[in-house]
Amino acid sequence: MCGIIGITSNKPVSSAIISSLRKLEYRGYDSAGIATLSNGAINEIKSEGRVDNLEKNPLIKNMLGSVGIGHVRWATHGMPNTINAHPHSSETVSVVHNGIIENSTTLKKYLINKGHKFKSQTDTEVIVHLITEYLKENDLKNSILKMLKQLHGSFALGIIIKDQPDLIVGARRGSPLAVGYGLNENYLGSDSYALKSMTNKISYLSDGEFCIIKKNQVDFFDEIGNKVNKKVLELSSTEENYDKGEFKHFMAKEIEEQPITLKNCVKEYIDNINNDINIHNFPWKLYEINSVTLIGCGSAYNSCLTAKYWFEELTTLDVSVDVASEFRYRINRFKKDTLYIFVSQSGETADTYAALDLCNKNKMKTACIVNVIESSIARDSNFILPIHCGPEIGVASTKAFLGQLFVLYIMALKLAFLKKNITKDNYILKIKDLKQLPKLIKETLLNENKVRSAANTFAKAKGSMFLGRGTSYPIALEGALKLKELSYTHAEGYPAGEMKHGPLALIENGMPVVVLAPRDKYYSKIISNMQEVIARGAKVLLITNKSKDEVVSENIWETIEVENINDDLIPFLLTIPIQKLAYYTALKKGHDIDKPRNLAKSVTVE
Ligand code: G6P
Repeated sequence: MCGIIGITSNKPVSSAIISSLRKLEYRGYDSAGIATLSNGAINEIKSEGRVDNLEKNPLIKNMLGSVGIGHVRWATHGMPNTINAHPHSSETVSVVHNGIIENSTTLKKYLINKGHKFKSQTDTEVIVHLITEYLKENDLKNSILKMLKQLHGSFALGIIIKDQPDLIVGARRGSPLAVGYGLNENYLGSDSYALKSMTNKISYLSDGEFCIIKKNQVDFFDEIGNKVNKKVLELSSTEENYDKGEFKHFMAKEIEEQPITLKNCVKEYIDNINNDINIHNFPWKLYEINSVTLIGCGSAYNSCLTAKYWFEELTTLDVSVDVASEFRYRINRFKKDTLYIFVSQSGETADTYAALDLCNKNKMKTACIVNVIESSIARDSNFILPIHCGPEIGVASTKAFLGQLFVLYIMALKLAFLKKNITKDNYILKIKDLKQLPKLIKETLLNENKVRSAANTFAKAKGSMFLGRGTSYPIALEGALKLKELSYTHAEGYPAGEMKHGPLALIENGMPVVVLAPRDKYYSKIISNMQEVIARGAKVLLITNKSKDEVVSENIWETIEVENINDDLIPFLLTIPIQKLAYYTALKKGHDIDKPRNLAKSVTVE
């Protein structure tokens, strides 16, 4: 992960770098730093923790220099402290880096033998010393080429050099990097989001390329140093709302925004007049697709797991689901009649991108479901299905998860209809139900008293479990993930039927267990599983949907009823209380809800 910004201008750049770093904090917030060139020297200021800490440094205000680089870090090599914060500098070169240099230990030995002294525990510092070494006998371009040749791994780099006071060098392999164009100034950024407040004119470096950015000129080169012509793209100028408004945290706001997310999805994808699903310009013929593979990480992976049930239930397609970090290294049997669908809120997750890249290299059919439509995954997929949920700032994904579920569901439904796996009447009925979702989510959101008070128990617990069957199982996984991310306690999601094969041993007196038991075809089975944990002392929070029939079961600690809808769509509603449970548990514990420890919103390292 880590965020990179660079600005070359005709005026001081430090305050613009600091404001961009604030935007980049979603990529990491372990430490932050800035380096500029002024009076023939490199000036570097770094601090542990947030950009706020960096800004508190009294020297920042007077920091001169019209060429500079900045960085927010998510630690890979070396503790998150000031010494390991980027930029890393020698007398002559300063570097910010996103990614991992896999052969840094070997390179470090070589450089130490040449007399270079290292200050930090990072892999990045080898880059500084390699360039410093090569600049002794080579011009800038050749020094960069030689340095890049030595590096193994994935990286995006921003580099400034004392003796070249008018320029920034950018380079990428694996990790994304963008160049922005301004008036008498140009920019380097780890993504277009960081640059959007300064310009809407952007170029992206392709894998293996590097660039030399001056305030009035940018030159791009390929990996052997040949000049490359670049397209300048215009970013959409949609005003996006990055304000918490009346809410204490972005996560609270994003949970409450979910009816709007779903409304936008309905507006974009449902044709009200014809009761149909709009998926325009789908680039393949139906007979060309006989199976789908769904790939993602984190919450996006959980949305894929939920969709597996829908694809199986509604269509005759073969479906498989994979965690991107596993898929990319597996011996895959690539099949021409498979549609590979990549799900990612940010569209920048390194493992998901690598899995997509692998499919593209094997000439597979690739589609993506993303929130950020200017992202790397969106740019490199054959077909994009946006989730239209607006910026998601809280690290723990909420509204993007529901947006992903929506788009996955309509894909399954549309394919089922086109392949004649379901009748037209059934198709229309299911579309009508989809249109009810925003209203039902709104009503479910209002019902929060019980979940709020249950959170007090979860806040005191050592650990907890989330159980489900069918589509409720991946929602149980999502519930456990949310609680882990935010409460820093162990939470495990399990298929309820598997409990007796091991996890039941974990149940002890008073342990809170969430049982997701909608009145679907699994209901009676999961109620029996629930009894098995109650019998062993668990405090069960049952989440089900409203019904005329009472829950026939004893000794349940607490019951929450979500609104009613067809079985396919129940996962949308079950998600609301589990999100709120994680939120209120973390609130009770006084944790930093929008920026949980050790995590980042966009994971751009593997
Ligand atoms: C990080 C975030 C998660 C997210 C996952 C995948 O771990 O903290 O909330 O689900 O990355 O991110 P993506 O942007 O690919 O959906």
